[in-house]
Amino acid sequence: MRQVKTLGLLGTGVIGGGWAARALHFGIDVVAADVKPEMETWIRGAVANAEGALSRLTFAPLPPKGRLSFTTDLTAMARQVDFIQENIPEQLELKQRTLALVSRHAPRDVLIASSTSGLMPTDLQRDMESPERFLVAHPFNPVYLLPLVELVGGERTAPETLEAASRFFSYIGMHPLKVRREVPGHLTDRLQEALWREILHLVNDGVASTGELDDSIIYGPGLRWAAMGTNLIYHLAGGETGMRHMLRQFGPCLKWPWTRLEAPELTEQLIDRMVEGTQQQAAGRSIRELERLRDDYLVAIQQVLRQFNLGAGATLRALEERLFESAAAGARPALEAAASGVAPQATLRLIETEVRAEWVDYNGHMTDSRYLQVCGDATDALLRYAGVDDAYRRSGRAFYTVESHVMHQAEARALEPLYVLSRVLDVDDKRLRVFNALHRRRDDAQVATAEQLYLHVSSAAGKAAPMDAGVRARLAALQAAQAQLPPPPEAGRLGGRVVR
Ligand SMILES: NC(=O)c1ccc[n+]([C@@H]2O[C@H](COP(=O)([O-])OP(=O)(O)OC[C@H]3O[C@@H](n4cnc5c(N)ncnc54)[C@H](O)[C@@H]3O)[C@@H](O)[C@H]2O)c1
Repeated sequence: MRQVKTLGLLGTGVIGGGWAARALHFGIDVVAADVKPEMETWIRGAVANAEGALSRLTFAPLPPKGRLSFTTDLTAMARQVDFIQENIPEQLELKQRTLALVSRHAPRDVLIASSTSGLMPTDLQRDMESPERFLVAHPFNPVYLLPLVELVGGERTAPETLEAASRFFSYIGMHPLKVRREVPGHLTDRLQEALWREILHLVNDGVASTGELDDSIIYGPGLRWAAMGTNLIYHLAGGETGMRHMLRQFGPCLKWPWTRLEAPELTEQLIDRMVEGTQQQAAGRSIRELERLRDDYLVAIQQVLRQFNLGAGATLRALEERLFESAAAGARPALEAAASGVAPQATLRLIETEVRAEWVDYNGHMTDSRYLQVCGDATDALLRYAGVDDAYRRSGRAFYTVESHVMHQAEARALEPLYVLSRVLDVDDKRLRVFNALHRRRDDAQVATAEQLYLHVSSAAGKAAPMDAGVRARLAALQAAQAQLPPPPEAGRLGGRVVR
């Protein structure tokens, strides 16, 4: 498969809009195609709406955003993109016809995926040209925040197609879950439907309202599900002997049975109960308001899970690791030139960022804590170059900040593009003194400086410890090259703390 620089979307409704927002955010261009011209305004609005929550998901350095274009000419889209994701209505014949059409116009090495919630890939690829490059890639709403994508191959799908698609989806921050063989509804929708069917029965039988049933999940099992699935949770429910005991104790209930296999008839009365129940739960809040609330807590949950390296948090952590690595790789030539003294000053520009809307205080200017965050990102990039990566940190060694001196010199407004110039002022066995200068891109004015002292720590020993010799040598080479520059007038103001 070719490298995916441009994603083509077939159908730009709820799911197409979600794919667009995710891909653009991670630097992929998008050509969106829909039969209805009015969907252009819709998808642009959907992308703008998603951006608020998406921009808070990670502070890792992102590539420049992708560009969005729109067309009603499906075949023109198919000829100019590297990967096609189909998101048109869930009707087998319509999907078969449309997929066959675009497959005749897309070059053979362009993968084609369907977002179908439950149709079988073998049926969908039936009339396609080069059906071996087709797969189901089933996402979850909102696609721009939920990492799960189920990958399912049909009878004629090549194994390499699933591998290549999996790499692309990981690249845009997703968790590809390969489904071993095609079944209607894939995996997740079968589980979701089982729960939903019971909800419909309980509402139909007048046992509970929609709100009570939602409460039965959100105050209990829902909290567990974000990081451990039903099986692992039931393993815990069995006490010391785990799943075996759990099955012995609760297995007989399966025969009673508590649940039903067929959904109830969707009568007018049942539809009214479901609609009225959810309207009461919405309590006057619009769909947009509820979406914003959902997006905000989805971001917050993933950030918490990142600390535990669990589930969606592990996906986020892996994504950030890659983003930091590629930023470090981008900065490496400049760092090497600086270390060898070829271009010591102007090139040590490791971080390009902008003042995000949520970083500003009531004055409309960047708030204090964000200066330290941006300078911390610059130091991280410097340390990555020196060899301090995730593996180094996992070995129980890290640099801790012990002192910072920040000087504020000019204003940085919301959305203002910024860059950081970094210098190594001092390095010895255990200590590193860094000077970061934050500049506005529009006029190069120096906005702030931060002089910071870092201590190299072994967490196993619980105290300062010598850094790796290679790391020290690289930092020392930088320091020597930059020592030819005049010392920054703002530096030298740390308290002179003694570290042993
Ligand atoms: N909504 C969800 O929660 C969800 C979740 C996962 C997967 N899916 C799947 O994603 C697909 C799309 O669902 P949706 O909710 O975005 O639907 P939607 O109705 O919001 O959007 C469908 C879009 O397809 C366009 N369209 C119709 N025929 C077309 C054609 N021939 N060519 C190009 N565009 C065409 C429509 O104009 C519309 O904009 C379905 O297969 C659905 O099962 C939906």
